Amino acid sequence: MQKTIKPLTKLKITSTLIISVIIFASCVSSQLGKNDSGEFKNGMVVTAHPEASKVGIEILKKGGNAVDAAVAVQFALAVVYPNAGNIGGGGFMVYRSAKGEVNALDFREKASAAASRDMYLDAAGNPIVDKSLYGHLAAGVPGSVAGMVEAHQKYGKLSWKQVLQPAIDLAEKGFEITKRQASELNGLHRRLMDVNINGTALVNLESTWQEKSLLVQTELANTLKLIQQKGKAGFYEGAVADSIVAEMQRGNGLITKQDLKNYRAVWRKPIVGNYRDYKIITMPPTSSGGIALIQLLQSVEPYPLKRWGHNADSTVQVVVEAERRVYADRATHLGDPDFYKVPQNTLLNINYNKKRMTDFNWASATPSNQILAGVTKGKESEETTHFSIVDHDGNAVSITTTLNGSYGSLVVVKGGGFLLNNEMDDFSVKPGAPNMYGLVGGEANAIAPNKRMLSSMTPTIVEKDGKLFMVVGTPGGSTIITSVFQTIINVIDFDMNMQSAVAAKKFHHQWLPDEVYIEKDAIDSLSTEKLKAKGYKLVYRGPIGRVDAILKTKLGTLQAGADPRGDDTAIGY
Ligand code: GLY
Repeated sequence: MQKTIKPLTKLKITSTLIISVIIFASCVSSQLGKNDSGEFKNGMVVTAHPEASKVGIEILKKGGNAVDAAVAVQFALAVVYPNAGNIGGGGFMVYRSAKGEVNALDFREKASAAASRDMYLDAAGNPIVDKSLYGHLAAGVPGSVAGMVEAHQKYGKLSWKQVLQPAIDLAEKGFEITKRQASELNGLHRRLMDVNINGTALVNLESTWQEKSLLVQTELANTLKLIQQKGKAGFYEGAVADSIVAEMQRGNGLITKQDLKNYRAVWRKPIVGNYRDYKIITMPPTSSGGIALIQLLQSVEPYPLKRWGHNADSTVQVVVEAERRVYADRATHLGDPDFYKVPQNTLLNINYNKKRMTDFNWASATPSNQILAGVTKGKESEETTHFSIVDHDGNAVSITTTLNGSYGSLVVVKGGGFLLNNEMDDFSVKPGAPNMYGLVGGEANAIAPNKRMLSSMTPTIVEKDGKLFMVVGTPGGSTIITSVFQTIINVIDFDMNMQSAVAAKKFHHQWLPDEVYIEKDAIDSLSTEKLKAKGYKLVYRGPIGRVDAILKTKLGTLQAGADPRGDDTAIGY
């Protein structure tokens, strides 16, 4: 028995669950592995796209473990969710085995060996608009294929051939795009044609894309077949590497055959911290996410959030003041640990984080220019994707992966059929420059040859009493850390179930600009007035985060949270 859990709006959750209980009780209550509350015992896959979730669950049902399913999902997302799923990008995996072994894999992109600190500056030393964002020069050396090979070799159970096959089938035979995808691809038609003058499978030359149009990607299928046959060499050497390098030469990009051949994914020690009675296992640098997440949790732990209530003015104030301080630290102290000594022990010290909150004043908002730290980059792209998987034995995988911008650099490798990332924009393009307050920073994340660019991606696993409790993560650029943090406290402090915690409206502060971004209806009118009176500048904006998460209940069942902000889909069995 398999059930697809469609994303629900917050208001619909209760009634839909009640209806589900009635339907299950009357129709399928004898099915194995499922109880009558829509929770599942054997496995759960939550991804940004229904087809990718189907791939993951089928792999689990064939006897694959969570890593097999994750590898299959990563490749499937490269086909069915090309705005962020990828083989031309990178990402991070946090893993926890059923026995409690934890690990973290860094398959973040790297700068080419030919990259240089000032490569996006003009003769006067000013950043050239969009140079790090669009076109071939924006691409870092992709890491996703190396990451999947590494993860599968270490933990996989099914054959490499088996885990690649679903993505090949989806690319070769095509799949029906969603309404949202049809609208996105129609909107991108001209820009995709500008960058890819010979066309790409993502451009419909005959008419417009519609919901359920079949998207067939033959070149991508051929690339995936080479990866299936040759593993890492199928991408980083031979015909695919040749086509990446030819693409670079066409568009004045930097990636060389040597860059591709030299690329390695790196196993890193996860960041592990505590919050109340829970253990948080999360991603270390090159992501800033894990350290920032633990800092946020440590900063708010002394406060009675539960008593104050979800998104009540006191809760919002404490969270915003914690975020202000943590994001200031992030801008100054975080970068690729292979190039920069990140002061990890200090940042993760509970006394340090408590002290950072001592100058916080209940009467008024702390102006961000009084929080000493370095420059932060401007807007970070929010188009990334996250998936969470738990298998029958209880192994758990949390992967966040990205091309950076939506559809990355928009460059589709000719002959290869896959998009290249624009991850170079995640470096500090102009480090060392004073910001508007005269503060200097950003060195930790300066561009250097072969260096990884800083990320906010925060794939996370939570334990309680030594057992798996939650698998969580999200896209959202700089809002990733906030969304993961708020989803965790929604469950731990505000007793929400997984779906409610994911769907709950969120807010975000990132030190600079000194504004609190909020989703519509996130904060009630009385709390809004109180916060405004204290000097908080509230700015309404569109969706924050797109969290896909799994909760293991006290009964041992798996409960999903698939974000209603997208086409995200949970399937359990
Ligand atoms: N490109 C988004 C991130 O790495 O955080």
